[in-house]
Amino acid sequence: MGNSFVIKGDIAYNKALKEIQTYKDGYLVCVDGICKGAFQKLPEEYKSLPLKDYTGKLIVPGMTDLHVHAPQYTFRGIGMDLELLDWLNQHTFPEEAHYSDIEYAKKAYAYFSHDLMRSFTTRAVVFATMHTEATIELMDQLEKTGVISYVGRVNMDRNGGEGLQEESAEASLKGTLEWLEAIEGKYERTMPIITPRFIPSCSDELMKGLGKLSEEKKLRIQSHLSENKSEVAWVKELVPESDCYARAYEMFDNMGTEDRPTIMAHCVYSDEREMEILKKHGAYVAHCSDSNMNLTSGIAPVRKFLEAGINVGIGTDVAAGSSMNMLKAILNAIQASKMYYRLVDENVKQLSFEEAFYLATEGGGKYFGKVGSFKEGYDFDALVLDDSAMYSMRELSVRERLERTCYNDADVYILHKFVQGNNVFDRK
Ligand code: GUN
Ligand code: FE
Repeated sequence: MGNSFVIKGDIAYNKALKEIQTYKDGYLVCVDGICKGAFQKLPEEYKSLPLKDYTGKLIVPGMTDLHVHAPQYTFRGIGMDLELLDWLNQHTFPEEAHYSDIEYAKKAYAYFSHDLMRSFTTRAVVFATMHTEATIELMDQLEKTGVISYVGRVNMDRNGGEGLQEESAEASLKGTLEWLEAIEGKYERTMPIITPRFIPSCSDELMKGLGKLSEEKKLRIQSHLSENKSEVAWVKELVPESDCYARAYEMFDNMGTEDRPTIMAHCVYSDEREMEILKKHGAYVAHCSDSNMNLTSGIAPVRKFLEAGINVGIGTDVAAGSSMNMLKAILNAIQASKMYYRLVDENVKQLSFEEAFYLATEGGGKYFGKVGSFKEGYDFDALVLDDSAMYSMRELSVRERLERTCYNDADVYILHKFVQGNNVFDRK
């Protein structure tokens, strides 16, 4: 019964992509970690359950960060005037090289895990580094946060520079197998995911090997796609036989399947051809607008992806995204889409608040199953938020409070966090 209770407060969640349902002084029911729905009046059958009274607080679904680099967390916000390839070479690769030192990794991952636990994120899909021991350390630490995650030991056998390149495709594959063996059956909440960094980091042989491994072990894949113009041009040179970047992943069986969907971060330059490939494989786009603005990458046409029926969630992409705050990521996604509409193509309408909130909750949550909403049967992932520091001279609806919460993230803080009904964080 520990995981069965009722929460009272001001509830908001997406009923659909374009529709937010709210209840002022409503009730949210959790039975054995599963949401039984949100109600204005508590149904008779749930009246015997313990009640947690959060009257006046906002209650929203937990958020899914579909793309975040744990080892980059401690240098977020630095080197932001560079574009992707220079930023990787000058900041990211030298930093990640430090994770060969397990003591360094322990300390840095403790910062990441601590802040993730206190964040709005309840589910995350995470890149580690190419180092097996450090990746296991990260998984150990993430398991303790209560957040449910996929974590990838990164594969990279070319163009990593000094200290961040595996010896060969064979060595990279062998390291991956050793990692998978070492963690088998070890965690309840932390799952492995195959992680070729991106095409420029992985030889054809490595990509083929990873595609095969994903199929054999039924493991999902995550990577980066069409983020930056120089990167896209480079991939054309590296894999001349593919007609587009996404095809290079598909050729090597890294695009996944409906039941083992691949996550592709960015997709800023994904055209109709790439969209067709993403759609065909049931892949997820991790939309990382903060990162895309910081590294002057561009703006992904999210509206087009949604209209094409492609799965889309939001990623913070720390450290190219300079914050792990999913509320800020929602705001960035809206603002980027407004600029795309105004400056790039007025046929591509901006994201509404409802749509952006959906992407951060159910849009990415779907990757984990029935996650990211308070509809009946969904995992009970919930955040209790205090927005009382934002004064208002007028009576606000729950919908209005939710919107300004995303537009003023600094003034809102998290009081309680639940994942599958487990109370994983309380603000002291
Ligand atoms: N492409 C390959 N590696 C990375 C990375 O670490 N961050 C971003 N934003 N793009 C990448
Ligand atoms: Fe990334």
